Amino acid sequence: MTHAVTSQVVILDYGSQYTQLITRRVREVEVYSVLLPGDASFKRVFEENDPTAIILSGGPNSVHVKGAPSVPDGFWEECEKRQIPVLGICYGMQLIVHCLGGKVEGLGKGEFGRMPVVDIPTHTKLFGEDIEPQNVWMSHGDEATVLPEGFKCIGRSEKGCVVAIEHETKNLYGLQYHPEVTHSEKGMRTLKHFLFNIAKCERSWSMANVLEEQIQIVKEKVGETDHVICALSGGVDSCVAATLVHRGIGDRLHCCFVDNGLLRYKEAERVMEMFKGELHLPVDCVDITEKMLSELKGVTDPERKRKIIGKEFIECFKEYKKTVEKKTGIVPKFLVQGTLYPDVIESCPPPGSDQKHSHTIKSHHNVGGLPKELGFELIEPLRVLFKDEVRRLGKIMDVPRNFVARHPFPGPGLAVRILGDVTENDALETLRLVDEIYINAIKEFGLYDEIWQAFAVHLPIKSVGVQGDQRSHSHVVGLRAITSNDGMTADWYPFDPKFLQEVSNRITNQVRAVNRVVYDITSKPPSTIEWE
Ligand code: XMP
Repeated sequence: MTHAVTSQVVILDYGSQYTQLITRRVREVEVYSVLLPGDASFKRVFEENDPTAIILSGGPNSVHVKGAPSVPDGFWEECEKRQIPVLGICYGMQLIVHCLGGKVEGLGKGEFGRMPVVDIPTHTKLFGEDIEPQNVWMSHGDEATVLPEGFKCIGRSEKGCVVAIEHETKNLYGLQYHPEVTHSEKGMRTLKHFLFNIAKCERSWSMANVLEEQIQIVKEKVGETDHVICALSGGVDSCVAATLVHRGIGDRLHCCFVDNGLLRYKEAERVMEMFKGELHLPVDCVDITEKMLSELKGVTDPERKRKIIGKEFIECFKEYKKTVEKKTGIVPKFLVQGTLYPDVIESCPPPGSDQKHSHTIKSHHNVGGLPKELGFELIEPLRVLFKDEVRRLGKIMDVPRNFVARHPFPGPGLAVRILGDVTENDALETLRLVDEIYINAIKEFGLYDEIWQAFAVHLPIKSVGVQGDQRSHSHVVGLRAITSNDGMTADWYPFDPKFLQEVSNRITNQVRAVNRVVYDITSKPPSTIEWE
């Protein structure tokens, strides 16, 4: 991608849930890595990406399944010709064995979970000095039973399966286990040894370089009289993207923050203060609360709510485009979007699915997205970054720490957290207060960074309680807190009962309209993260 990068690792994705993690692990040690679908063409792998090293990922398939993904024709010859080291992980190792004349078999033994690797010889290229037995994370059904010519076994599982191989002169290596997961004790050491000692990668991937380079790209793309607009959502990605673009073109960037009436407690005030006071971004706050709530009155169907909110947002943005045109006398040409790497990665389609590359599905309902008809050219300065990298980039641009670590918040806001009509029963006001108490308590107890997302939900039912000395008939609120990597799957967070007790007391004492608090203990699947 970039002039600043001197080493680049290509990771071919065969569908393992850990493939993105390998990519991030490599980047964590400051080596740039790109993720390509396992069936990427020869040209894409070698000519467009010029790899310093290649990693073949794990995957759910057996190499014997019809249509099982493999490397492009001429792959092994090219690696040998250019002396590009290749590391196969799990399915990737089986692919090496299968393609080069060895034998992979499903003997029904399978190994799953943490287990030790033993029998590491004193002299191996891949393990270096790490020859003591080590615990690793294994997950395989098939196993390599005959190695191709020139390969040697450099590690076995306790059951006797081959779990590490190498071909010294061809620079080909395989690990049956997953070195990228933390359960593999010395996995990162092995990966680093492969990158730095074997492949001689250079550390040239840093957020400071990315920043400098992306600012340069923005400057080159946006002409001197062009204007750019950006919709700030109050989330990390749009804020970091806008801050970066602002560094490149100054106040020819025009940001719009829409108060749609569905935001959290004092959200508009707080983020506007930060955008203007701390980041000095040129931002207009457009308040469409009245229109939004009148459109939502009486609407209870969740999808209809989402559609109405999306439509109002687009209308508002069209108006904003006109406002900028009036102010500057020029039609704004570019739109900044905080698209991230996981949104653009193509992953390997499952064999037999008849699909071409499937894009990773992210937050499915992208209400904040703007349609192509608006006629903008896009500026996407975060397109190559993972979320943790965006946070680091934010930090070096002085985006306040408590802001870069914010939990995600859905585009349709509290509307998906108030079940039923959002305009009834002072639900918005009640929910704002409850959510604020809950999130403040999470911060006070030092749990905010351990949790991926936490929020309160307003339920349309009332239950009986005793408040003061009187019976009450008030609302029930639900609390949700989850851990997750990407929002696609999630576990509920196991709070200490004392914490839950404290929060419940605070809520029922401070919010008159609530007399019952429940905690959601469902994972995703079968539930979703939001309640609507
Ligand atoms: P679910 O509820 O589908 O949510 O498990 C997964 C992640 O997506 C967020 N989410 C949304 N984000 N517009 C958004 O921009 C939406 O309509 C929407 N619905 C859910 C949710 O907060 C979680 O992080």
